[in-house]
Amino acid sequence: MPLPSSVQYGSGRLPIDDSFSISISGFQEPRLQRAAARGTATLARETGLPLHAVAQNAAKGTLVLHADHGSEEVQQVGEDESYDLIVTAAGATLNAANPLGILRGLQTFLQLVELTPTGFSAPAMTIHDQPRFPWRGLMIDVSRHWMPLDVIKRNLDGMEAVKINVFHWHLSDNQGFRIESKQFPLLQELGSDGHFYTQDEVKAVLAYARDRGIRVIPEFDLPGHSSSFFVGYPELASAPGPYSIERQYGVFDPAIDPTKESTYQFLDGFIGEMAALFPDPYFHIGGDEVDGKAWDANPQIQAFLHAHGMKNNADLQAYFNQRLLEIVSRHHKTMLGWDEILAPDLPKSIVIQSWRGSDSLADAARKGFHGLLSYGFYLDLYQSAAFHYAIEALSGKAATLSGEEKKMILGGEACMWSELVTPENVDSRIWPRMAAIAERLWSPQNTRDVRSMYARMESESQRLEWIGLQHRS
Ligand code: ACM
Repeated sequence: MPLPSSVQYGSGRLPIDDSFSISISGFQEPRLQRAAARGTATLARETGLPLHAVAQNAAKGTLVLHADHGSEEVQQVGEDESYDLIVTAAGATLNAANPLGILRGLQTFLQLVELTPTGFSAPAMTIHDQPRFPWRGLMIDVSRHWMPLDVIKRNLDGMEAVKINVFHWHLSDNQGFRIESKQFPLLQELGSDGHFYTQDEVKAVLAYARDRGIRVIPEFDLPGHSSSFFVGYPELASAPGPYSIERQYGVFDPAIDPTKESTYQFLDGFIGEMAALFPDPYFHIGGDEVDGKAWDANPQIQAFLHAHGMKNNADLQAYFNQRLLEIVSRHHKTMLGWDEILAPDLPKSIVIQSWRGSDSLADAARKGFHGLLSYGFYLDLYQSAAFHYAIEALSGKAATLSGEEKKMILGGEACMWSELVTPENVDSRIWPRMAAIAERLWSPQNTRDVRSMYARMESESQRLEWIGLQHRS
């Protein structure tokens, strides 16, 4: 799980005993060595066999990995993740264009190993596999409830296991600002209760994710959901304050003042700092659930709105997004936001994340915007795996798009909002249902058998425990 796009069964089985080893031929890099060592360690834990590290002779492993060339220095959307895995009774080979395909295929190999009456073995088969969508993500909200580094790391391990390739890190909201800014230190000093990631810790997460073929996209939610910015920097807000971080959840009124030039000077400095820290070309600016009450209540903001010929607060948010886009672009990033940011006069380079319904995904694609689906993938709503499994990005209005328009839909992201979870139980809300969403985004569109999904999800759920997730315990 996720089910590969093509599987042909062979005859016989490859025994997995304590002579098992992985070797690397073709392109070499430390990341591949670490992947082989990690895969071996997982197998050792799962089987109890005292397995050795990577084989010295490149052609002699029980499983031989071969990548033709290296990956892009910064992982790209749509970079080749395909692989061919051939298992025979005598050995296994995993071939891919670049290490991303090796990472994906290695997880498939690990899933094949099972206990039989004659010991551990993998069935002979030939698998050709590639993802259906290039963007397959999980968003974790670390603002409502703080999620320490070990939670993030073990969830990245789980993401690797089911071939999820984007970690969307919701780093700021009304309830907490969760990353160190060296330029604006009052953000974390006053907006976090001391629960934030240092930049060194962020770099460690980025390296950890890179090792697993996972892109990391930061989100800073603006202009609403932003009280935690205002605790240290009340001058950014539409009302004087003072502000404190919220202790409850809901939609709150405070919003950035989009009419002051000083707001944009701050954001240019802040976004510049964060854009330099996160290598991914995409940058998420939030944009959801602005109730406009703070803007209505400020006569200067209303005067600005009328003086610039705007009709309402939606126009004002569109103006803010336009200014934000200039800043994000100046720092060489592509702007991504929740579907509220969809407005006709924004350039087509921005990406829309649909959460209020799937129609906005089709509307965005038809207007020429790239899109991601999250509607239907909200893990915090505690729907069944079958519910999420039935969500299809190219159904409904999107089914009527032309072939070219359909390509504007890059994939989807599951969302784990943290109003009602803590580090202790968050794994149990993400897993194993995340695996069903991962399959929806990776496997061919006609992979729809719910009974098969549940059977395979159950077995994957056990494997996820060997990898270190705590959803059962
Ligand atoms: C959202 O759920 N407010 C994006």
